Amino acid sequence: MLFKNAYIENAEELKDIRISAGKFAEIGEDLQPREGEESEDLQGRLVLPPFIESHVHLDTCLTAGDPVWNMSGTLFEGIECWSKRKQKLGREDIRERVNRAVRMYAANGIQHIRTHVDVTDPTLTALKALLELREELREYMDIQVVAFPQEGILSFPKGRELMEEAVRLGADAVGAIPHFEFTREYSVESVNFALRLAADKGLLADIHCDEIDDEASRGLETAAARALELGLYDRVTVSHTTAMHSYNNAYMLKLMRLLKMSRINFVANPLVNTHLQGRTDTYPKRRGLTRVKELTENGINVSFGHDDIFDHWYPLGCGNLRDAVFLGLHVAQMMGYEDIMESYRFITHNAAKTLHIADRYGIEPGKPADFIVLDAANYYDALNRCAPVLASCKNGRLLSSARPAEVKVRF
Ligand code: FE2
Repeated sequence: MLFKNAYIENAEELKDIRISAGKFAEIGEDLQPREGEESEDLQGRLVLPPFIESHVHLDTCLTAGDPVWNMSGTLFEGIECWSKRKQKLGREDIRERVNRAVRMYAANGIQHIRTHVDVTDPTLTALKALLELREELREYMDIQVVAFPQEGILSFPKGRELMEEAVRLGADAVGAIPHFEFTREYSVESVNFALRLAADKGLLADIHCDEIDDEASRGLETAAARALELGLYDRVTVSHTTAMHSYNNAYMLKLMRLLKMSRINFVANPLVNTHLQGRTDTYPKRRGLTRVKELTENGINVSFGHDDIFDHWYPLGCGNLRDAVFLGLHVAQMMGYEDIMESYRFITHNAAKTLHIADRYGIEPGKPADFIVLDAANYYDALNRCAPVLASCKNGRLLSSARPAEVKVRF
């Protein structure tokens, strides 16, 4: 199959892409169709590697308003609503919602998802359902499952055993939630436990780290130090890190050295954190997003995630990561021309580093023919005009397609 006239990743020259046996075979100028080869003219549209969701909670997705709505929009009312919804949490319930959410993601050009799944449940119902779906959907969506201890590792009965069981059942990554643990000692020990478990089992780690406005929440320094000492480096990701927004600059300067040495990845969730953080502030009100601009300027890898899709903590979302990028650029004050043009990296290459899949990701000969086509010439234009994903191909096979909308203004 030959695709003609594509602008690959904001390039200024048009290129043709040949796909053979599910892989990118050739990328060049003026390639001609071979005998019997199908050819399609992309007419100067943008081609990108597929979008990647690097942080979501699929086990809670699509539950907003069921059985009650979170009227205040706070994290705490969200927890109350979820405890009511949790009573009917079951295998079929999770399968139905996740299947719907995965298709919503597919329609928006996403081909990889890292989902956190709550394992502070003695039955591990959600984890088992997600592990099952990971296998069933493998052909269409790559799903990574993080064992996520929502109520803590040391602060929840048999928390350590549940984490070990989740790993034994097949979780891809180990989580932790240091800012939620009862004490500072538990917080440190929970990170030590999680990263040792990841190191012992050869797994990745993704920690919900300091998702709080408390400037004294310092799980991050422990995570970075252990990632360095255990030799895990970029196999470790810290998600949220919203307390960093409130750290004093003297501490931040010291911390940045360790962050660079540790080579850990960051995931920011602009939609959910601007919604949930700063709730105890009167005015001025903190924005609640980690220091995306400063981390990026220091060469540290940051990706953007959605975090919640239409659930008790975040009442909007249709699986379109464009929204996370759009808001993230505003809140991080990264609105220079280059910042906007390159911002697709937060949900493509940067997220591929976070998921540790960079070796098989990207538009290069020999790699799997995974790509998306947007109805725009470059990402600046795509972001600004909310351009739809016209096609999403995985291993050269069409996963989803859309037609450009036709709008007529009558004057
Ligand atoms: Fe999260």
